[in-house]
Amino acid sequence: MADVEARASQRFAATLSADDRPLTRAELLAKARGHDAILTSSLDKFGPDYVKDLPAEIRILATHSVGHEHIDLAAAKARGIAVTNTPDVLTEATADLTLLLILGAARGASWGERMVREDRWGEPALVSPLGHDVSGRRLGILGMGRIGQAVARRASSFGMALHYHSRRPVAPELASGAAYHGTFAAMLPHCDFLSINCTSTPATRGLVDGAAISRLPDGAILVNSARGDIVDDDAVIAALASGKLAAAGLDVFRNEPRIDPRYRALDNVFLLPHLGSATPATRSAMGHRALDNLEAFFRGERPRDLLTGD
Ligand code: DGY
Repeated sequence: MADVEARASQRFAATLSADDRPLTRAELLAKARGHDAILTSSLDKFGPDYVKDLPAEIRILATHSVGHEHIDLAAAKARGIAVTNTPDVLTEATADLTLLLILGAARGASWGERMVREDRWGEPALVSPLGHDVSGRRLGILGMGRIGQAVARRASSFGMALHYHSRRPVAPELASGAAYHGTFAAMLPHCDFLSINCTSTPATRGLVDGAAISRLPDGAILVNSARGDIVDDDAVIAALASGKLAAAGLDVFRNEPRIDPRYRALDNVFLLPHLGSATPATRSAMGHRALDNLEAFFRGERPRDLLTGD
């Protein structure tokens, strides 16, 4: 965002990325030389080897994302590099997008839009598949953090009956009346819709696998606005093909943007290209939050969103 880039250039001797494409490892390492900080995003993957190879003068990685699975925090810590993220400011936009996934998947928005764009509406042989109701159905939320809570607030106004699983129950005033389940497995039979809103960690990667899907009611709908690696693509695709899952709404994927091509062949999926935080106001707020963290760090203060680096 221009306002973020202008502030970065005013406050720092900043080298800006001209075309906003993900940099190769060699390009990023070359650009990082001579700098004390990198303001990055989830597109750049800082695995352990990469962190080890960063120029010695790098003192902080500020990611322009709430998710930080793309940065190996242990490796950063071992190198004495601080890491910050940008929570809070994308909560509402990501929750809005999650409701779009719920509605789009349930009502066959992807199929319908394609028929209009391809000028096939009205073709005699074309039978519109009927969608699925959202109001009055049960929604299970995996991960009741800020975004999960914001999804719950929205879904309750759609008349959905809410359930959730997270490591600990949240205060009742934050749960919008959702029923807590101490295990993910216990929640699944109550989910006509399952929304993934947890972070990607070693404990959640691959959590939505064939065993989990088999515990859902037949014809359940899966939505994911968190991270693609939380689902097992083979299991999800098989369940979409068999009808065990009636539909899915997916904004995030493994290996973005090179998603599993089998998703494209399915009519019952609503696919978006990781748009959770993609509004000008939200992206700008994320950029300013990352700069707040950098400025605090270089003033010698503890950044508000420090993940590692004390
Ligand atoms: C986030 O901030 O983690 C969003 O998913 C964008 O990467």
